[in-house]
Amino acid sequence: MFERARELGVKFRFGITADRYDFQAANVSLVDGGEVLGDLIIAAGDLWSKARAQLFGNNDPPLPTGDLVYRIVLHTDTIEDADLGAIVSRPRVHLWVGPDCHAIYYSLRNNTMINIVLLVPENLPENVAKAPGDTGQMKEYFSDWGPL
Ligand SMILES: *[C@@H]1O[C@H](CO)[C@@H](O)[C@H](O)[C@H]1NC(C)=O
Ligand SMILES: *[C@@H]1O[C@H](CO)[C@@H](O)[C@H](O)[C@H]1NC(C)=O
Repeated sequence: MFERARELGVKFRFGITADRYDFQAANVSLVDGGEVLGDLIIAAGDLWSKARAQLFGNNDPPLPTGDLVYRIVLHTDTIEDADLGAIVSRPRVHLWVGPDCHAIYYSLRNNTMINIVLLVPENLPENVAKAPGDTGQMKEYFSDWGPL
């Protein structure tokens, strides 16, 4: 998508941080004082996007889902476990579903990396959205699951 967009004349700038959006004028003011002018603004921000808050005129805080995910990203060529290696050799989306938890695996970057997402019940303190993972606790959630 990146290459095709470039062919079509889209200019990319990385490492800049937007601060204020004028959606009518398609003018984005940057934190460093610069500005980006265009034909339209596509705000594909994250959970903490300033664009959404400015477009809707309120902070639109994220709603707690009661879920927490552990996200594990591995380089495929560093995997020594035979069972995991066998799964990785077939780059597909794999999903395991169990009570209160599920696990998803899929490959990234042409199968040179893999992403494992483990969803469990949330147990973070209020107003904490991200924290270092506790691998012992993570393993405990899945300790009575069958093998891969
Ligand atoms: C873009 O927005 C900034 C901040 O509101 C303003 O200072 C600037 O003049 C605008 N630029 C244009 C070309 O309208
Ligand atoms: C993806 O990996 C395959 C096998 O290693 C390779 O043949 C192909 O060129 C790669 N594709 C891209 C877009 O890198």
